[in-house]
Amino acid sequence: MEGIELLKKWIDESDNIVFFGGAGVSTESGIPDFRSVDGLYNQQYDYPPETILSHTFYMRKPEEFYRFYRNKMIAKDVKPNRAHLALAKLEAEGKLRAVITQNIDGLHQAAGSREVLELHGSVLRNYCTRCGRFYGLDAITGSEGVPVCSCGGTIKPDVVLYEEGLDQETLQKSVDYISRADVLIIGGTSLTVYPAAGLIDYYRGRKLVLINKDVTPLDKRADLVITGKIGEVLGEVCGINQEEK
Ligand code: APR
Repeated sequence: MEGIELLKKWIDESDNIVFFGGAGVSTESGIPDFRSVDGLYNQQYDYPPETILSHTFYMRKPEEFYRFYRNKMIAKDVKPNRAHLALAKLEAEGKLRAVITQNIDGLHQAAGSREVLELHGSVLRNYCTRCGRFYGLDAITGSEGVPVCSCGGTIKPDVVLYEEGLDQETLQKSVDYISRADVLIIGGTSLTVYPAAGLIDYYRGRKLVLINKDVTPLDKRADLVITGKIGEVLGEVCGINQEEK
């Protein structure tokens, strides 16, 4: 049975699907990923982006950090694509339990998904490092240089930088969903960044689906590998056409 047909069958038969995704889920919304040939990490900067997006760099060169962060990490006027919409539809139909994402763009929630576990945080959440006050994205996009709270403290995005730990509760909930999942669909991720990529090891079922444009280290472990654009694949499988939203 052709990959798409088998995926359709597994989705039709299940009410316990979990999705695990990365930057490749948002490229069809116009947001570049990190490690594709045209990805963020393959563009030229004074320092490697992974260096800029680290806790050390944030502490030592905050002006440069925020310049890069505003220019490259905040996507303006982007909309959910068919992958986001398909996953929201599967959740609404009671088939998908959770979306676990490494992305920080908030597009899954914008598409209508409710149970979204953001392993690496979100650009939509920002906090004062001194008084803890919450700020929205406009506190960053509407300011210059290092954003400052009314109390004088620095406002920091709720985004996990290199050298920083992931939120323990989000990790635990992700492990619970994956360990109980009937079907685990992984898509749009190179599965190279830990601990996120390590969560896959908790899956105990026999319906591990990988939808990706390039090969990943997990291809041989998957029960079904579909090579292609995840927006097109999930759009076709879930009946989301191009025009919607
Ligand atoms: N459809 C399917 N796959 C796609 C698409 C698409 N439209 N576009 C890109 N891809 C694939 C690429 O082939 C690549 O394998 O998605 C993958 C994206 O991999 P990365 O760029 O490494 O992104 P990701 O896996 O999310 O990176 C993980 O690295 O820098 C950190 O915190 C950052 O969350 C990020 C983490």
